[in-house]
Amino acid sequence: MVQLEFLAPELLGMSCSIYHETNNNADWKQWNGSEEPSKPLYHQLLNVTLPTKPVSIADLEQIALDKLPKLVRQYYEGGAEDEITLRENITSLQRLNVPFAVGPSAFHRLAGYDGELDVARAAAKRGIAMGLSSSSTSSLEDVIKVGKTAREEIEEGSRQENEGFKLQDSDWWQQLYVCDQRTSDTEDFIQRSEKAGYTALLITVDRPYLGRRLASLREKFELPLHLRRASGEKMAQGEQIAHYLLNPSMHWHELIPWLRSKTKMKILVKGILHPEDAALALKHGLDGVVVSNHGGRQLDAAPATIDALPAIADVIQGRIPIFFDGGIRKGLDVYRALALGADVVLLGRAVLWGLAAAGEEGVGLALDIIAEEFKLVMALTGVTDITQIRRSTLALVDPAHVGLKTLSDPSWEDRRPI
Ligand SMILES: Cc1cc2nc3c(=O)[nH]c(=O)nc-3n(C[C@H](O)[C@H](O)[C@H](O)COP(=O)(O)O)c2cc1C
Repeated sequence: MVQLEFLAPELLGMSCSIYHETNNNADWKQWNGSEEPSKPLYHQLLNVTLPTKPVSIADLEQIALDKLPKLVRQYYEGGAEDEITLRENITSLQRLNVPFAVGPSAFHRLAGYDGELDVARAAAKRGIAMGLSSSSTSSLEDVIKVGKTAREEIEEGSRQENEGFKLQDSDWWQQLYVCDQRTSDTEDFIQRSEKAGYTALLITVDRPYLGRRLASLREKFELPLHLRRASGEKMAQGEQIAHYLLNPSMHWHELIPWLRSKTKMKILVKGILHPEDAALALKHGLDGVVVSNHGGRQLDAAPATIDALPAIADVIQGRIPIFFDGGIRKGLDVYRALALGADVVLLGRAVLWGLAAAGEEGVGLALDIIAEEFKLVMALTGVTDITQIRRSTLALVDPAHVGLKTLSDPSWEDRRPI
């Protein structure tokens, strides 16, 4: 759990010139479409006017969308089919009045800069954990290495830059799709991750098949030639965007014992939305669950994760950690998720927007903005410690909304351990 102090205000007043660099890779010109970038979803939903300097994730998103080639914009931004779940993740969070880590997302070098390496540095300098996608464009060894080096540098004295942060131990988690276990490639990948220092495997189970992302069906998404898969390449068919050798028929009772026999890392299942699956995770001795709908990229019209969370928290009852992602764009969203039962909140696109806007600095800014917003919400709701964040500190703006409980509902009672 991240504990952060307020930021020095000067950090937010940084010069904005860096945010308008153009992408320096000539190969990317072929990617550029002629269309104007769209207005960020967040802006569309809230009718936000963009200020001139980035002080929110929505600002970073606008800068990122302005800079990114069209195909990358579509890949990062898009959800499945009519994008109902993608929108619901965000709007459902906003219907409620109300610490975090970097979640795994693929192909960070599409955003430019040093991709995953920049994300690792920014996270590690702040003592924030990072989940690495198995579709990373930097090797899993390099990611952890640069992260640890950046952290050591901070520890060795340059703390002024991050004054105000209470530095916690960084942690590194490796995401993995459920691939065909008959190949030794998955086994090699797991052992490589453990050897490199990753402490947990996030097994993504909500992608037995790829969701229908319409923009990518209309215009085929491929990695540009200068990029390649740098870690999970053997589990995919070739180094290009190619599909993983997924095994959609895998069952809990065969997968979990097999994974346990191959690694001592913690094992979490990512992509839980139903309380019955949360119960299965307990039954099969998982070390945690990640409540996620893959950022609305898989099953369209799946519930928003914030709506699914309370029922899952009721089943888990504090026995294993609940990680949560989907639509987190503000510190307020982190607070809401914690109040409804999450222990750790994962950032998806918020980190991608920071990365595309300004590399390591942009990711750092995204993390700092969310941290500062989160601390402010804590202060303004009269909460002095993360463990005091409970359902009872939330008010329902729209009690009639399907999926949300009213305050008179007995199940609204907070069951998180104090
Ligand atoms: C561009 C992109 C790539 C992603 N790649 C992966 C991936 O490789 N593995 C995975 O488990 N989840 C992946 N996800 C899902 C994220 O881990 C996370 O569930 C989602 O981004 C959360 O929603 P948000 O981005 O709206 O916050 C990806 C999401 C995006 C936007």
